[in-house]
Amino acid sequence: DRLPDLLRLMPKAELHIHIEGSLEPELIFALAQRNGIVLPYASVDELRSAYAFTNLQSFLDIYYAGASVLIQEQDFYDMAHAYFVKAAADNVVHAELFFDPQTHTARGVAIETVIKGLHRACVDAQAELGVSASLILCFLRHLSEEKAFETLEQALPYRDKFIGVGLDSGEVGNPPEKFARVFARCRELGLHLVAHAGEEGPPAYIWTALDVLKVERIDHGVQAIKDPALMQRLAQDRIALTVCPLSNLKLCVFPDLAQHNLRQLLDAGLAITINSDDPAYFGGYMNDNFTQTFAAVGMDAEHAYTLARNSFEASFIDKATLGHYI
Ligand code: ADE
Ligand code: ZN
Repeated sequence: DRLPDLLRLMPKAELHIHIEGSLEPELIFALAQRNGIVLPYASVDELRSAYAFTNLQSFLDIYYAGASVLIQEQDFYDMAHAYFVKAAADNVVHAELFFDPQTHTARGVAIETVIKGLHRACVDAQAELGVSASLILCFLRHLSEEKAFETLEQALPYRDKFIGVGLDSGEVGNPPEKFARVFARCRELGLHLVAHAGEEGPPAYIWTALDVLKVERIDHGVQAIKDPALMQRLAQDRIALTVCPLSNLKLCVFPDLAQHNLRQLLDAGLAITINSDDPAYFGGYMNDNFTQTFAAVGMDAEHAYTLARNSFEASFIDKATLGHYI
């Protein structure tokens, strides 16, 4: 069976990776030591054994705690560089990285430190690994829109170092329309727009992400299957869904991978992509997501080709460069 080799070897783009979610337990401990931080876990194994999640919030609590070891510009560089090495090994040739500045500025880390460290890693990824990369700044939706505006203001001196904005963190109770004004401002600024919607939240959140925030892609979006009119809208407008199968499994969105709806969404004609979300926490990078999902839901080489092509078509790679990939 040569399908797993095809999945591993085919060039692909990753469009849904929280760079703080690529922080492996070993690097968390190394950075804690470098920065003189005492962790509430005795060892790497003890930390990893705490990675047993029941829903999104149970994960977010430990994910924000893990990010607290990031202090210096070099810490952000080292985290992103480690991700790019893994991505290159999985034949990811293009990546669009989410980052959560508010997780760091709330601890007194300057946004300049965050953006400069991550951006330098993106530049080096191209030069050293042949991976093209760009950054998408995410607003934390459990915080206020006013806080999002403050974050945007702090980031604007580095406007040339990120290509867009997204919306993440706890979804239920924090609908996209809570951020209508700040997304309108980002749209005026010419930033690309995406949002997490329909991970745990209802199809209504996908509708308002599209119609109020005017996002270009939906992150997750798997709950769209509950709304036939929404399915039609997503198919007709070729709105990409950045689906993260191992994330959905670990956060109990689906009881097992065989019951994941990715194949149904793809066969319904939606622009589906496969992504890793928070690979250090969910037990798999891109090729793990591809090989395990294909085995579980029984997809074939044609599905593989469609998913790879979708990943480039849904990317924010400029039109001229896109021709090099598809
Ligand atoms: N932040 C990091 N991973 C996330 C996810 N899967 N959903 C919402 N916010 C996140
Ligand atoms: Zn995500």
